[in-house]
Amino acid sequence: MSLTPAERYAAAKSRARTPLVEEFALGLGHDLDPFQRDACASVEADHSVLVAAPTGAGKTIVAEFAIYKAMRETRTKIFYTTPMKALSNQKFQELVGEYGPSEVGMLTGDTNINSGARIVVMTTEVLRNMLYADSDLLRDLGVVIMDEVHFLGDRFRGAVWEEVIIHLPLNVRMVSLSATVSNAEEFGDWLKAVRGDTDVIVSEIRPVPLEQHVLVKSRMLDLFDTATGLDRLDLSDPVAVTNRVNPELVQAVGSGSRASTDRGGRGRPRGGRPQPQRGGWQQGRMDRSDVIAMLDEQNLLPAIFFIFSRVGCDSAVRQVLRAGVRLTQKHERDEIRRIVEERTRTLADEDLGVLGYFEWLEGLERGVAAHHAGMLPAFKEVVEELFQRKLVKAVFATETLALGINMPARTVVLEKLEKFNGEARVPITPGEYTQLTGRAGRRGIDTEGHSLIQWGDGLDPASVASLASRRTYPLTSSFRPTYNMAVNLVDQFGRERTRDILESSFAQFQADRAVVDIARKVRQYQDSLEGYEKNLDCHLGDFREYSAIRRELSDLERKGAGRADVESRGQRERRQHQLTALRKRLREHPCHQCPEREQHARWAERWWKLKRQSDQLTADIRSRTGAVARIFDHVSDVLVELGYLTQRDGETVLEPAGRTLRRIYGDRDLLVSESLRHRLWDDLDPASLAAMAAALVFEPRRDEGQPDERNLPRGRFLAAFDATTDLWARLDDLERDNRLPGTQPLATGLCLPMYQWARGGQLYRVLNEADLAAGDFVRWTKQAIDLLDQLSVVADPPVATTARQALDAIRRGIVAYTGVA
Ligand SMILES: Nc1ncnc2c1ncn2[C@@H]1O[C@H](COP(=O)(O)OP(=O)(O)OP(=O)(O)O)[C@@H](O)[C@H]1O
Ligand SMILES: [Mg+2]
Repeated sequence: MSLTPAERYAAAKSRARTPLVEEFALGLGHDLDPFQRDACASVEADHSVLVAAPTGAGKTIVAEFAIYKAMRETRTKIFYTTPMKALSNQKFQELVGEYGPSEVGMLTGDTNINSGARIVVMTTEVLRNMLYADSDLLRDLGVVIMDEVHFLGDRFRGAVWEEVIIHLPLNVRMVSLSATVSNAEEFGDWLKAVRGDTDVIVSEIRPVPLEQHVLVKSRMLDLFDTATGLDRLDLSDPVAVTNRVNPELVQAVGSGSRASTDRGGRGRPRGGRPQPQRGGWQQGRMDRSDVIAMLDEQNLLPAIFFIFSRVGCDSAVRQVLRAGVRLTQKHERDEIRRIVEERTRTLADEDLGVLGYFEWLEGLERGVAAHHAGMLPAFKEVVEELFQRKLVKAVFATETLALGINMPARTVVLEKLEKFNGEARVPITPGEYTQLTGRAGRRGIDTEGHSLIQWGDGLDPASVASLASRRTYPLTSSFRPTYNMAVNLVDQFGRERTRDILESSFAQFQADRAVVDIARKVRQYQDSLEGYEKNLDCHLGDFREYSAIRRELSDLERKGAGRADVESRGQRERRQHQLTALRKRLREHPCHQCPEREQHARWAERWWKLKRQSDQLTADIRSRTGAVARIFDHVSDVLVELGYLTQRDGETVLEPAGRTLRRIYGDRDLLVSESLRHRLWDDLDPASLAAMAAALVFEPRRDEGQPDERNLPRGRFLAAFDATTDLWARLDDLERDNRLPGTQPLATGLCLPMYQWARGGQLYRVLNEADLAAGDFVRWTKQAIDLLDQLSVVADPPVATTARQALDAIRRGIVAYTGVA
């Protein structure tokens, strides 16, 4: 990237101030970008830093520098946290390559390698648990790198990031790496508030510019007007937002579709009845194999096709294979086969068929593959590796690929601009679009990346253009106090301090910011109300009082009108009576005689309307103020009622049950702890306990829409399952009584398969029974393992012993398989 003279001057100045950054940069094969230089300078100055930059911009460099710096000290330890095991694996390998195996460890729940090393890669959950357990491994910890810190907004797991940021000792420096979010400054302000010195470095420059195209039938057109040279997406450029749509595109789609007059209306032309979908864009739409051939011809491979469903990804592969697509040469095929055999060597032969191995291999050899969460993690990793090595050239992926993993392509294809979110088809957001197309353009290989939107029904050029040129992806906290959090914090800090700590969460920070804005609005409303009041001045009397009677009257009239046939005679008479009285009061009010009465009344109407809005905002402020602490109070009330917390000498302290709960994590922390306490699982054999763990962790996919009623293991399991369900129902009532949202009932879908798996059942039978993809089965089983692990530590015998046996029974075959070995 070429620098302006001013940038060169600034760079020279900063070089003098940051000798260590200089030294580090020398060892790289390239220059540092300005944002990297700034962020490294902050690290050298011993500040914490938040770096927000687009996908592939090179944020990792900053983390690498922080490690480089810390490793020059004698003892300082570094934790590198990531949201995903796959990403942890990748980082671990890279760091081992750099510092050697003795210096690097990894902890991801199911892998435990060299945990005492100077550099340890881990999932964020592991670090959170360490903090609550006050683990010895935290000694000498100097730096924590949080990669993909925008995960903090994740609906299910985000709270963990906040817990870590709040609880990490203040002397630990943080390097937080985030995708571009529209409120990076706000997030940075919070980090400053809770952690002190934190520099915020934001860059919005894509390292490789993006050319955006649209595929109209078989014509590939630019999305933006190239004549103006604004077709490149540079988000820091305000002009980009007003990008002009390519007139040729407007013309091309204008003639071929109803889309331009009928935006959202799938098959519903203006004013007409719904029509069956025929013709339109489905006709003449290029099919996938042709799109691939075209990309190949134009030298635009490798490409990632984002298809927002797993089934869709798998069938896309099948479809292009059937069409005879082959993107590899002989020597590449040999190489592919060699790598695949090497990486899957330890998989049992008998499992290969049910895992779809042979079909998968055939696709790979022809240069195509799917990539989604239903796949076995090991298979996904191989796809990633082959793609990076340019051996696989077309990947059909769900959007999970858009996160974190370094797997850039030359081109990203979007066949549709909407996806199924579990409940409905929804348009993808500008933030998602940015994230997805962020995969296009490989640094150092491509001079530009390409995105290709395949035109379809219901699209219109202007809204597609705005999707492609806006950045709206605010980071929003998803933090909520849990039972486990509550007992841990109360134990360490007492109830009062805990309230204070929770008030310092990003959730509350954002709520408070919102309060400031709302309060400003309330003040504005107040001013307007005063203005209105002047117009209400009536020389005959108090017009507000008069208009209050009018409102009361019309409210009562309206209410009566809607209920004439449902109210009893007595009610009707009472209402009539009230109406007569109100009408009389109205007539007798001095303002009733005012010649300007109706004019005053119009102002009065405005006044009341605004007053109501203002009151609503005031209520809103009240509900946001201290909201997080209030939830904590409800959580604590439940815990007091159940005897986990108690008052002693004016202080809230933990009872023994509370101490157990400290070490139980997860959505069902309280239910697990209560079940142990009531000894509901004492009689279970290992397979039944594994099945119970499955019932506690499993969440059926929402889009399957099937009722979750399956065969359950018989005998002791069933009795324990019923007892646990009863307990769940009681807890759910208690939570609702305490104004907490409650939890989902236990899921039955995975119990029998897990039971069979634990008893040595064959993989194909188990998957069949579970009706799950292999990747899902592995993922859920790992969650069950996580829970059983906790039980093996916290439960009293016999459950602890049974849990250990259950672990041995289910940690086998594809579940135990790891590519890292
Ligand atoms: N200054 C630079 N010049 C050239 N290449 C660079 C530079 N900085 C980083 N790179 C390369 O860019 C690629 C992407 O970098 P990196 O993985 O750090 O991106 P990232 O910002 O972490 O993206 P993501 O949001 O996907 O995690 C890497 O291959 C890296 O080697
Ligand atoms: Mg990264």
